[in-house]
Amino acid sequence: MSLLDIKHEVKNNFAKSNPNFLQSMFGNTEATPLWIADMDFKVAEPITEELNRIVERGIYSYEFIEKDVFKAIKNWNFKRHQLDLNTDAFLQVPGVLTGISLLIRELSKEGEGVVVQTPVYHQFFKVIKSAKREVIENPLKIVDGVYSIDFKDLELKFKQGNVKLMILCNPHNPVGRVWSKEEMTKLTLLANQYNVTIISDEIHSDIIFSTSKFNSIVSVDTLHKHVAVIGSPAKTFGMHSISNGYLYISNEEMRTQLKGVIGGMYLDHGNALSAYATIAAYTKGEEWLNELLGYLEKTNCWIESFLSKELPEVKLFKPEGTYQIWLDFSGLKLSDDALNHLVFNRANLALTPGNWFGDNHSSFMRLNTASPLSTIQEAFQELKTAINCNIEGQDVEAKPKNSCCSC
Ligand SMILES: Cc1ncc(COP(=O)(O)O)c(C=O)c1O
Repeated sequence: MSLLDIKHEVKNNFAKSNPNFLQSMFGNTEATPLWIADMDFKVAEPITEELNRIVERGIYSYEFIEKDVFKAIKNWNFKRHQLDLNTDAFLQVPGVLTGISLLIRELSKEGEGVVVQTPVYHQFFKVIKSAKREVIENPLKIVDGVYSIDFKDLELKFKQGNVKLMILCNPHNPVGRVWSKEEMTKLTLLANQYNVTIISDEIHSDIIFSTSKFNSIVSVDTLHKHVAVIGSPAKTFGMHSISNGYLYISNEEMRTQLKGVIGGMYLDHGNALSAYATIAAYTKGEEWLNELLGYLEKTNCWIESFLSKELPEVKLFKPEGTYQIWLDFSGLKLSDDALNHLVFNRANLALTPGNWFGDNHSSFMRLNTASPLSTIQEAFQELKTAINCNIEGQDVEAKPKNSCCSC
């Protein structure tokens, strides 16, 4: 078994390499796509085999097998994270963002506040604002070069009274933190004290590197009152366009409320292809995932070493999990436009701009590492060439695209 990369041919229509997206976001249809949090690797063979089996049947009758899906998720979490989940506490939803949107609309009222920890996955802003709730920021702080939760500020925000919910991202996209047990314990204590419900987005929970351990908020939630978890196999197994999401809610009253809404809107019908693929992933995909994690970890090591030796002016926040890395370009002292031009047009890289994740982050960029190492290596070489041209006093904005400067 080995990780085979997919080809970004236009006919495939993958969002990541779609020329229209690349043009509208990066002004460069040729940019190497390292932005959207999606993998370039083929899924585990058992997933493809299972999908083939269902297609071969040629019959797509109604099938409601979510109980089997929940059992597979439960067993997986017990094995990978020593997490003892209750199959009765799961609810099926079409995707993670759908689940978060439902929770926001059900558990708060228009005008009430929802806390997010910036910089954070940009779609959280959209789901909060589209529900006419207020985004309340609890910015992460950098302590000794590591992103941490500012609990003092968080308590102030919870105390405001207008705050009903918080969306936690664990592991955190884009900074790559895997929150510790102590941090999660402190968070649940505050949530219980101020009656704030934590929506814990744990979609990245299986992309955890060897020096870290994933601590679901469920493992420290003793009151079973103020926590709703949302997860999905999408990130773990590269199933973005074919998987469902799930809610895990221990609080029976909250679960009954959500179940009523989800059932009433028939959002729990699922899709047999998705359900069988999910079961195959969680029951037969572990070897593939272990190989992926080893590969990503080696890629991270290569990037860390390259940056420290060749590009020390670009700072990496070493990820504990996720296949995103958060890069700080402030050392280059460029304007926002000049940095974007340097990365998108001179280095030909489609990286996610930092200001998507919150204000004041325009000197950062997020890079997706789930690509072949050779692609990542070429990308960093391109970055080095573009930066060196710039440092040597050549105006990156003045140069036509692809015209190499003298260095
Ligand atoms: C933290 C986080 N939540 C949710 C999603 C999207 O999940 P879905 O496509 O199931 O709505 C992503 C995708 O990048 C993500 O990073």
